[in-house]
Amino acid sequence: MCGIVGIVGDHPVAERLVDALKRLEYRGYDSAGVATLDDGVMGRRRAEGKLFNLETRLAKQPLPGTIGIAHTRWATHGVPNEANAHPHFVDGVAVVHNGIIENFSELRDELVADGATFSSQTDTEVVAQLLARYRRQGLGPKEAMLEMLSRITGAYALLVMFADDPTELFAARFGPPLAIGHGKGEMFLGSDAIALSPFTNQITYLVDGDFAILGQKTVAIMDFTGKPVKRPRQISQGSAYLVDKGNHRHFMEKEIYEQPEVMSHALSHYVDLADHVVKAEAMAIDFKPLRGLAISACGTAFLAGLIGKYWFERYARLPVEIDVASEFRYREMPLSPDQAALFISQSGETADTLASLRYCKDAGLKIGAIVNARESTIAREADAVFPILAGPEIGVASTKAFTCQLAVLASLAIAAGKARGVINDEEEKELVRHLAELPRIMSHVVNLIQPQMESLSRDLSKFKDVLYLGRGTSYPLALEGALKLKEISYIHAEGYAAGELKHGPIALIDENMPVIVIAPYDRFFEKTVSNMQEVAARGGRIIFVTDAKGAAASKLETMATIVLPDVAEIIAPMVFSLPIQLLAYHTAVFMGTDVDQPRNLAKSVTVE
Ligand code: AGP
Repeated sequence: MCGIVGIVGDHPVAERLVDALKRLEYRGYDSAGVATLDDGVMGRRRAEGKLFNLETRLAKQPLPGTIGIAHTRWATHGVPNEANAHPHFVDGVAVVHNGIIENFSELRDELVADGATFSSQTDTEVVAQLLARYRRQGLGPKEAMLEMLSRITGAYALLVMFADDPTELFAARFGPPLAIGHGKGEMFLGSDAIALSPFTNQITYLVDGDFAILGQKTVAIMDFTGKPVKRPRQISQGSAYLVDKGNHRHFMEKEIYEQPEVMSHALSHYVDLADHVVKAEAMAIDFKPLRGLAISACGTAFLAGLIGKYWFERYARLPVEIDVASEFRYREMPLSPDQAALFISQSGETADTLASLRYCKDAGLKIGAIVNARESTIAREADAVFPILAGPEIGVASTKAFTCQLAVLASLAIAAGKARGVINDEEEKELVRHLAELPRIMSHVVNLIQPQMESLSRDLSKFKDVLYLGRGTSYPLALEGALKLKEISYIHAEGYAAGELKHGPIALIDENMPVIVIAPYDRFFEKTVSNMQEVAARGGRIIFVTDAKGAAASKLETMATIVLPDVAEIIAPMVFSLPIQLLAYHTAVFMGTDVDQPRNLAKSVTVE
């Protein structure tokens, strides 16, 4: 996902803009650029790769000026190189953009037919070309912006600067987020509050269809017809967190180790850790009358939802329809107002998940959002928000957000079970007591297995393909383990329901493909051991992730056995997440990949 920042300042802005971009690095990018305006002259520096390259260029060729815009690009149209990096310049117009201009191709044809010469392969450049055309036709900056906004379609967060207007920046939002930061005698704009936190915590979030004109001390917000609109100014939480790695090598490692602490934040919001009962916060949706529940999300968030499905169906007898958000709304599944829908999203900005939310809202369902970013679009459009309180997750590979999403889903499933009379007081107390043990157990486990994970990762990094197996709630964990490994180490990995092994994947089994079997000593253990025997009989090498009882019960020879404490079934997914996270992390570190910002990936995908 791209990052956008802008400043209408009272002193030089170039370096401050690049500093703000650094706080957006977690979003993933492949090039960056900055433009400023000084005494009527627009200057620009762009560089492929990391921000260090842009800083190096700026050091050699500084940019003067107290007004400017900057951008980190995650390529959608056009290869990641300097020519395609933003800001895009056309005849005194500078543009940075996050999102996709869906009708860029027809606009580009129209502009070329009109004599325009394009210098990039990007969709963004059509915005700059349109604005330049309207300015040549005599429209002022505001009028040119409104005319351009009437022509483009798609998802976009835009920030524009005009060479002949040194006192204003122009912003528009339709999809990806944009926030205004109110400074002291300066005005700021950024993709989120974290980018703005070095400057201010006084934030105004733009919503879809907002067009804003920022002066040094003024903000005018209107709709795309120019009609003024009001947007609240609030104190952002985004600046409340110190976003740094502490004494860890990567944000991902830090976030894996933060899980016991943030788990206690998440749990204490939804359950009483002393009385072992669920709190009102877990009942913001009335589950009692519901005929069914829909769950939709992407990636790791979807896999959390898949585990949640097992819990809602088991503990609340609530049928759950779940799908990845990119498929969910195209299946045209029968939906009705006697259902509710839960959308799970760390960033709260994932385009597919937001689109699924709007699809269910149109169908009249009660909407719940399980998010980490409480001020995000998905949160703002939901009827009930369930914050996961994990703190900013900077590593692109989701870890603490995943286990906190699970904690919230478990709390909601217990609340739903109580409301629907499926769980009695005693059962509630027992389940919540197990949840309350999580921070302690996770803290113990992460330190217990760290050395073994680090040494095992050296062996795992030699392989090209890995298979993960699990049953019950360990099946979505097998999918998550495969996702973690592939997205940061680039080793091909697949997750499978253990019972499916003999329906195909067993053909792959040989000594060249380790099989990671996730199997606590639960109701499914014996069946999973049979699957392991099938693997062993074919020369497969097993990495066995189990608990003390499981290790004692299985006599199989393995490549490695990771022994966790015996834990209750309801918390096994959170505890067994730790070995799969650490194994992926150390394998990636050993292989030297960019662990926090893996190639081609973004922290939040705000385009469909
Ligand atoms: C997680 O490790 C991945 N980076 C990715 O699958 C992520 O979970 C997905 O893009 C959803 O993001 P969200 O939670 O912000 O909606």
